[in-house]
Amino acid sequence: MSSVKPSKEASSLNLKEEHITSLSKEVGRRRNFAIISHPDAGKTTLTEKLLLYGGAIQQAGAVKARGEQRKVTSDWMELEKQRGISITSTVLQFAYKDITINLLDTPGHQDFSEDTYRTLAAADNAVMLEDAAKGLEPQTRKLFEVCRMRKIPIFTFINKMDRPGQEPLSLLDEIEAELGLSTWAVNWPIGGGEFFRGVIERCSREVVLFSRAERGKQSIERRLKLDDPELRNLVEEDLLEKALEELELIEAAGAGMELKLVHSGDLTPVFFGSAMTNFGVEPFLNSFLEMAQLPVARNSQDGPIEPISKNFSGFVFKLQANMDPRHRDRVAFVRVCSGRFQKDMTVNHARTGKQIRLSRPQKIFGQDRAVVDDAYPGDVIGLNNPGMFAIGDTLYTGKRVEFEGIPCFSPEIFSWLRNPNPSAFKNFKKGVNELREEGAIQILYDIDQSKRDPILAAVGQLQLEVVQHRLENEYGVATRLEPMGFQAARWVSGGWKELENLGRIFNCKTVQDAWSRPVLLFKNDWNLNQLQEDHPTLELSTTAPVVSGVEPISL
Ligand code: G4P
Repeated sequence: MSSVKPSKEASSLNLKEEHITSLSKEVGRRRNFAIISHPDAGKTTLTEKLLLYGGAIQQAGAVKARGEQRKVTSDWMELEKQRGISITSTVLQFAYKDITINLLDTPGHQDFSEDTYRTLAAADNAVMLEDAAKGLEPQTRKLFEVCRMRKIPIFTFINKMDRPGQEPLSLLDEIEAELGLSTWAVNWPIGGGEFFRGVIERCSREVVLFSRAERGKQSIERRLKLDDPELRNLVEEDLLEKALEELELIEAAGAGMELKLVHSGDLTPVFFGSAMTNFGVEPFLNSFLEMAQLPVARNSQDGPIEPISKNFSGFVFKLQANMDPRHRDRVAFVRVCSGRFQKDMTVNHARTGKQIRLSRPQKIFGQDRAVVDDAYPGDVIGLNNPGMFAIGDTLYTGKRVEFEGIPCFSPEIFSWLRNPNPSAFKNFKKGVNELREEGAIQILYDIDQSKRDPILAAVGQLQLEVVQHRLENEYGVATRLEPMGFQAARWVSGGWKELENLGRIFNCKTVQDAWSRPVLLFKNDWNLNQLQEDHPTLELSTTAPVVSGVEPISL
């Protein structure tokens, strides 16, 4: 695989040639991605298969089995165990050929939370996994929107081709029409469901035949040239003709393949396959590694920071608290953005200006941890966090760097958080403030100061349960949730002034976020649309930018 050429910036930084080559080699060897999908599309199955190629796990099933087998070592995990879910979204690092792959694991359905969104802030690429029968589903759309905001390249894997599904052409149409994303099919299916016979690879003009293996067994991929006469003995004429006609159609009508458009998030390469039978997974991995974006420059207050810059920099995108309650530990997950990270390094913490020695950096594979000696752009390291780090914090060496923070995402579930026991108020206050700081949940406040109780605002139900559970277990306060019945929140881009100019507004409730910005809560989309129709110039936003240098409201 090619290594990155030293950029103009590197030469202007006067870096030693040797440093540039070793660092650019490491950057060139790194690929980092997250899978975006709706529950049941096959993310766990695909992850397992990908990990098998990297030799990271010995047998398929290990990803799921891990959850069942692991020893419960914390209350946090107790909650996971009670619910039979995985809250921890971490990174799985594995090597394939000469490439180091960082797969950022975004949690599934019930566990859907802001973590899932934030993980995408650390990803350079996304794999959009679709079930061939279901096409685009709600959670995939939501996650896609975040990818779009950041212009992350998207690679689409259409899964479960061995089962009856939608017409491949309509699946592509749906992506184009509904996501506004051009498609480029890397392979094209011959038949589907019971009649799935394999795929035609567009570049090599080879057919990869699918053989239905016993459940759980891997299908054996056999390749033939498209003009090999034997093909006609192996695949029904009508299925092959249909596939060829469709391929001709997309070749004539569709967009050309331009890597630049893939990297700008405007064109998605599409792969058809079946993760369960391991059909099409290895070719997908090979193409993905060739086309994926290498670790990219990240925007900071002083413009983009190139990965091969001399100095180390990175940012915190996730905090995981209480992994081990005996030590009340917190792990901060840091995405390395530039330079080389080394164990025992002393770094600057941009928000506080403090220096920190990172003596116990960890690589975390699911629940297993190992000390990291060094890490490169695209990698993720886990740092023990004694309450020092917050989401979006920048760490750096050398000249001061502060990366663009991670915005707040529009919550969809709202609930008053009541503390029925006034004598526990001190702990209640401490817990709520700390959990907000940590980014476990967004807190909104009524504009009526006399209503002191905080409003918990989450993107997933589980976030509320986690907060309640942690308040009880870590802060000793039993709380009560009182659902508010709103389903959508929008920030008013023009602030309080714009809101005042509107005069009285209907069908929504005005509250404020932790930075005293106005937020409107709506019971349903109809109310939201109504307000927009009544006030067409009112600008509403589903995300809010990060505020720095201003103390947030606390309880
Ligand atoms: P998720 O993590 O996205 O939620 O999905 P997961 O991998 O758990 O897969 C959901 C179900 O879909 C599983 O079946 C899985 O076996 C099945 N599946 C995944 N990929 C394919 C595929 O390519 N073809 C077919 N036919 N099925 C696929 P399950 O019955 O819920 O679980 P299990 O009993 O197989 O473990």
